[in-house]
Amino acid sequence: MTDGQRTPVIIDCDTGVDDALALLFAVRHPALDVRAITCVAGNTDVDGVVRNTLTVLEQAGAPHIPVARGAERPLIEAPRSARHVHGHDGMADLGLPEPAREPADVDAVTLLRREILASPRPVTLIPTAPLTNIALLLRTHPEVVRNIERIVFMGGAAAVGNATPVAEFNVWHDPEAAAILLTAGVPITMYGLDVFTRVVVPAAEVRRLRASDEPGARLAGELLAHRPAHPDSRPDDPSETAGGLGDAGAVCAVVDPQGLTTHRLPVDVSLAPGPTRGMTIVDRRPRPGESELHEGTREQPLVDVALDVDVERYVKLYLATVEG
Ligand code: RIB
Ligand code: CA
Repeated sequence: MTDGQRTPVIIDCDTGVDDALALLFAVRHPALDVRAITCVAGNTDVDGVVRNTLTVLEQAGAPHIPVARGAERPLIEAPRSARHVHGHDGMADLGLPEPAREPADVDAVTLLRREILASPRPVTLIPTAPLTNIALLLRTHPEVVRNIERIVFMGGAAAVGNATPVAEFNVWHDPEAAAILLTAGVPITMYGLDVFTRVVVPAAEVRRLRASDEPGARLAGELLAHRPAHPDSRPDDPSETAGGLGDAGAVCAVVDPQGLTTHRLPVDVSLAPGPTRGMTIVDRRPRPGESELHEGTREQPLVDVALDVDVERYVKLYLATVEG
């Protein structure tokens, strides 16, 4: 595949077990040209995210992709990690070696702006983390919009949340940043929990990856074994663990959008303090309701919301790519 046919992408991540699965896939798929990777506080602190990201790239034998440190906390909220899910170090406490490489000598927003504007073809942004860096980019350098093809972000939920009953972690962590993203004025795909939780690698495949003698495939297996398909389904025998692809599904959606069923719907983010803060309000009504009839229509950004996914197709794509 020539460079002219590969899709230029930038991943903004909070590596994180499933962000690591996404990175392993992205750097190995021939259709993707990963121009940069930017890091933000989320699953763990931003310096841990930088360390984990560089470690994953080295374990994968990835080319020298620039990695930059971004926001160390959300725009308004204090940082609230997900270490209880991803382990103290954010990488399932696998004890991986420290990376040999240093991050870029510029910050994430500067690297994002530089690589987006320098790309000969419009860039697809793939945030798999709280959207703080993306919001800062859009507010600091709005001119980048002219060279962004689409933003495919892992975040939000049309139905059930995880961080709260109604809010997904990445949006809940920085709701204001998510609201800024949604008004970016570029095509947006929301790869939310409605599909995120469904893409699961069967236990037998996880076992095979864990036994691989190729470091990147073996790391994928170890990470998948850390991500039981359903948190309350940790079997006594770890070899019986199926593993959720998580963020990696959003990258699969960039490579193979036909595997995702999306609906173009109005999406709002609840910013009010209280039990709905961080909720993505996806309007699936067939027609306006009394609120519009009596109070007028509120213009909400239209987002391509993923409501269904071909699980087998994405699992097959992921395994074929990571195992090579
Ligand atoms: O809600 C799931 C998301 O939060 C994933 O991106 C996971 O890595 C965490 O960042
Ligand atoms: Ca993530």
